[in-house]
Amino acid sequence: MKKPVTKVIGTVIDIVMYAIMFMQMLYIFTGNLLHEIFGMVFFGCLVVHIIIKRKWIKALVTGKLKGSSKAQKFSALLTALLLICTILLMLSSMGVSRTIFPWFDFLRSSDLHRYLATAALTLAAVHGGMHFYIRAKKKKKSAVLISLIAVFCLVFGLFGVPYINRHFKKVDIGYADAVSGEKVEWKGKKPLVVYFTRLGNTDFDDDVDAVSGASLLYADGRLMGSDQLIADMIEDITGCDKKAVTLTGKKYPSGYGATVSAASDELDEKARPDIEPIDVSGYDSIILVYPLWWGTVPPPVSTFLEGNDFSGKTIYLVATQGSWGFSKSTKAVKEQAKGAEVIEALSIYCEDIPDARPKLVEWIKGL
Ligand SMILES: Cc1cc2nc3c(=O)[nH]c(=O)nc-3n(C[C@H](O)[C@H](O)[C@H](O)COP(=O)(O)O)c2cc1C
Repeated sequence: MKKPVTKVIGTVIDIVMYAIMFMQMLYIFTGNLLHEIFGMVFFGCLVVHIIIKRKWIKALVTGKLKGSSKAQKFSALLTALLLICTILLMLSSMGVSRTIFPWFDFLRSSDLHRYLATAALTLAAVHGGMHFYIRAKKKKKSAVLISLIAVFCLVFGLFGVPYINRHFKKVDIGYADAVSGEKVEWKGKKPLVVYFTRLGNTDFDDDVDAVSGASLLYADGRLMGSDQLIADMIEDITGCDKKAVTLTGKKYPSGYGATVSAASDELDEKARPDIEPIDVSGYDSIILVYPLWWGTVPPPVSTFLEGNDFSGKTIYLVATQGSWGFSKSTKAVKEQAKGAEVIEALSIYCEDIPDARPKLVEWIKGL
């Protein structure tokens, strides 16, 4: 029999761990430093949890759970998976750490970190749920409840967290630190970077902080477009020319949600809003920097692509996004940019935009 004190400590630790895991997913509100500190507290709690459950883990490792029920075997398998997942999560936490472990250069991928965190949260929810299931009288009901919680955790991690980040991201950076650094020669003729960003194409209110909230980037205290920052980095790295896709008519509304629905309407109508002309005739390579909007290129970018002749030119796609990959944008660019060879260069998660320079350098060096 377990001593009651150990049991109480174990329960408290478990609750703290679940609370931290959930809170860590909402790191957009806590900021990076607290996220890293709570990450360490979590792994500290995990060590205590493992010490408390050491007999059970020993039984798992030595195969002494053989005689147990199907539910117990499933629970054991799940625990083993959760353990592997949390170890990988710990390594990737150190890999993506900016403040506490900046020297740790292993599993340095924020995408992987997000997926591992989602997997760990989901497995942990089922792991906790299985303890109830094994004791529960109404097995079917408990199984449904556990499945629902697991689906919620998965959807929350994969879609909810990126959605929240997109709506509440507000970042302050030092412009020179983010943009300047190592120069790399572009192999071939000087390229042109063409970018689209909300700033300059949005009627921001005076109290933009209060109204728009989402997706705001401040460089040296001044509002800046995220995709402009990427374009500036490429300009600094390669010395290329740079042009912005700029609306000449109606701009997007200040509110993030309002822009999302305005873009949705435009995409439904296949709208091609008027933009300032961009001449690409003197360039062989165009680096197109754009945010994913509804999984594709924003309508003003389509105006740019359809309004030019890209025969014999290569378009390198640099997509910024709040989820992953290029979604349907590659197909759209191939259809809209007549004659172009289209290459997926880099997809950058919105939060990684201020730190994207090394990735860009690596890509351009590898061309
Ligand atoms: C109208 C709109 C639609 C968006 N749709 C998507 C989407 O489908 N997938 C995605 O990953 N991100 C989407 N996002 C998020 C942006 O891609 C992300 O915020 C952007 O790359 C960062 O640039 P920003 O700070 O200028 O918004 C959308 C953003 C807006 C404003």
